[in-house]
Amino acid sequence: MSVTEQSSAPRDGDRTSGAPWWRQAVVYQIYPRSFADANADGVGDLPGITSRADYLESLHIDAVWLSPFYPSELADGGYDVANYRDIDPRLGTLDDFDDMVEALHSRSIKVVVDIVPNHTSDQHAWFQEALTAGRGSTARDRYIFREGQGPDGSRPPTDWESMFGGPAWTQVTDGQWYLHTFAREQPDLNWAHREVRDDFLNTLRFWSDRGVDGFRVDVAHALTKDLSEPLPSRAELETLPFDGNHPLVDRDDVHEVYAEWRQVFDSYDPPRTAVAEAWVHKARVPLYASPEGLGQAFNFDLLQADFDASQFERVVRENLELAEASGSSSTWVLSNHDVTRHATRYGLPHPPREADGEPSVKHGLEWIRSGGTNPELDWMGGERRARAATLFMLGLPGSSYLYQGEELGLHEVAALPTAARQDPAFFRSAGADLGRDGCRVPLPWSNSAEEAFGFGGGGSHLPQPAWFTRYAVTTEEEDPDSTLCLYRRALELRRSLQTSEDLEWISTGDPEVLHYRRPNGWEVITNFGAEPYPLEGVNVAIASTGMEEEVLPSEATVWLMPGSA
Ligand code: GLC
Repeated sequence: MSVTEQSSAPRDGDRTSGAPWWRQAVVYQIYPRSFADANADGVGDLPGITSRADYLESLHIDAVWLSPFYPSELADGGYDVANYRDIDPRLGTLDDFDDMVEALHSRSIKVVVDIVPNHTSDQHAWFQEALTAGRGSTARDRYIFREGQGPDGSRPPTDWESMFGGPAWTQVTDGQWYLHTFAREQPDLNWAHREVRDDFLNTLRFWSDRGVDGFRVDVAHALTKDLSEPLPSRAELETLPFDGNHPLVDRDDVHEVYAEWRQVFDSYDPPRTAVAEAWVHKARVPLYASPEGLGQAFNFDLLQADFDASQFERVVRENLELAEASGSSSTWVLSNHDVTRHATRYGLPHPPREADGEPSVKHGLEWIRSGGTNPELDWMGGERRARAATLFMLGLPGSSYLYQGEELGLHEVAALPTAARQDPAFFRSAGADLGRDGCRVPLPWSNSAEEAFGFGGGGSHLPQPAWFTRYAVTTEEEDPDSTLCLYRRALELRRSLQTSEDLEWISTGDPEVLHYRRPNGWEVITNFGAEPYPLEGVNVAIASTGMEEEVLPSEATVWLMPGSA
């Protein structure tokens, strides 16, 4: 066995086939308020991102995706947008945005922004106008207002629940109710309204004109609704199939919206791209990923799988088939701003399955509820499995989406004081769900706790734990075996591996070991089991863990260079 350095392929996403960059990109998600804080006010900002452009370049990523940076009351971490064509003053200005785009583009890093079309903030000018304009007004018709039930309309129009818990309707002072799929500060827009559609087309042009390369589309499956009377009850809703005619989600007519968006995307050279966040039945994902629509869709199956060979294999097989059906490439995600970090998930016992056998995205919540004490977290085991899973993922054809901090092997922060919590899921569930703040704690750049670990020197809007020192960028840069060094090497090597989108499985005879081959002879082997797996006469390019003998240790991945026996 030999470990060899391999030089990287050219930087452009277009490796050999002339395929567009996004088909096999590595996209790094930045949660701007928690990335880097240039003005030392405790909240990350756009100049902070610009100041870390060299770091981003050192990761060998193809693009960054920025979670919302728009003006917002922060009822939902910025996913409550008060103005789609401006920057929250706490995060900077449009000039700062332009500077950031330039800093990233000059390092060959594309920029993807988050677009939130299902709902606005209740502070958005349209909603404020709807409140004052009153019943029956055009302004109200941009949202979903209804009369309440009962003789005085004091009961909500239906018993629907919001995604963050509590009722999905809120009453305004003149007695009408408005629908909000999420928090009450996030009123749902009426996508049957032409002005709503046109305004979003303008927003897409606004950012595209500023040089943005693509869009991540929030809750892409929920925009259009059929709210004809009588409205179904919650119990009735639960009996309805998700066949494209459901009143609230994944309706066929949402694709009319995306066909219009596609015209805007394709009016640019190169065409702007989009990726849908669509929590829909697998078979319907290709509709969102079609070239006439958004072009690509998230696949959250790896994120929901246990660290388990048969689950990982099934997820890959299914999603490569789905991608082929859509004409798009697949996407892979292990962590994002909505779920418990994967190093932590893999350090906890396997989660219970939902009643239908489907895994839960809420894995880790019991542990978070206990302040990180119960069940006991296997820190090192979680990191080891996370590194193995990451290398398994990065070898796959398609695009990998990374979440800031996972390159440090960062764990979820469970022990956050109640007063610091920000997630609406926490408030709307009366604390039963502690929410997603634990993966949104500002990054540790240096190991000095007094200076908010180099985040910005002005404190940190979510408190950072003392153990962040072990995961600080400066700490990991000095350790060649760190997760950060592993990500950097793997992402550089990945450029030579992603040529065509083919993948060939190689039988291992061991149910705990997966082995696949990529174009140009690259191979990836992951040992999910407890026993070492023999590897003879191979040329190891990179391994997720230390390797001394001709074996692949338990819970580890290797990439083999072309020419291995
Ligand atoms: C998406 C976002 C999540 C947000 C929700 C409502 O699921 O990822 O963070 O809370 O939409 O906008």
